[in-house]
Amino acid sequence: MNKKISWPGATQLAPVPVVLIGCSDGSRRNLCTVAWVGTVCSTPPMVSISLRKERFSHGMISGSREFTVNIPPVFLAAEVDYCGVVSGREYDKFAVCKLTPGEGETVKSPIVMECPLNLECKVRNILELGSHDLFLAEITAVRVDEHLIGPKGRLELENANLLAYAHGHYHRLGEAIGHFGFSVRRKPGSPVRR
Ligand SMILES: Cc1cc2nc3c(=O)[nH]c(=O)nc-3n(C[C@H](O)[C@H](O)[C@H](O)COP(=O)(O)O)c2cc1C
Repeated sequence: MNKKISWPGATQLAPVPVVLIGCSDGSRRNLCTVAWVGTVCSTPPMVSISLRKERFSHGMISGSREFTVNIPPVFLAAEVDYCGVVSGREYDKFAVCKLTPGEGETVKSPIVMECPLNLECKVRNILELGSHDLFLAEITAVRVDEHLIGPKGRLELENANLLAYAHGHYHRLGEAIGHFGFSVRRKPGSPVRR
């Protein structure tokens, strides 16, 4: 058995998604990289993002009460990093990164056309947690690249070459090694590999 050491509580959860949040105040648009993001409810479909108050995006999203979650492929890793180290107060990150803003169907916030999957979100609640405020939001529309839809209508996200994030490092997702429920559908008597 592995020998454990103990640390005080810390934000060690990994791997996590890393996404580009699209937002707007009506006249200016912005992008912000966020790793503290997650699905929190199935019905209604909801996500949360956590932002520090000092982020330019925090003010925009608090005002508009909406944002988009744009899920980036590996080829946008440098743009994702850039949008996480400079502020929209000084730069138009869409322009600097040469990213294409697309119109939302249910929100005024821009989507990132180069990202294969975009979630349009409306804020339901804002919770002050400490360093970060949690924005709980309902997903009001999902936009997806048509070429990722397979012959049977399934979203084949495994072909999207998505990014993941773990403890300060960007990773490409590896090969698929199973699907939901595969462990109980294996041949009777065959061992579960650990
Ligand atoms: C990989 C990565 C993940 C990040 N995750 C978050 C996050 O979850 N919440 C947050 O407030 N800032 C996060 N940041 C920092 C913001 O993206 C960064 O401060 C950005 O410049 C804010 O942009 P804005 O001022 O235009 O909103 C992250 C940065 C990087 C590079």
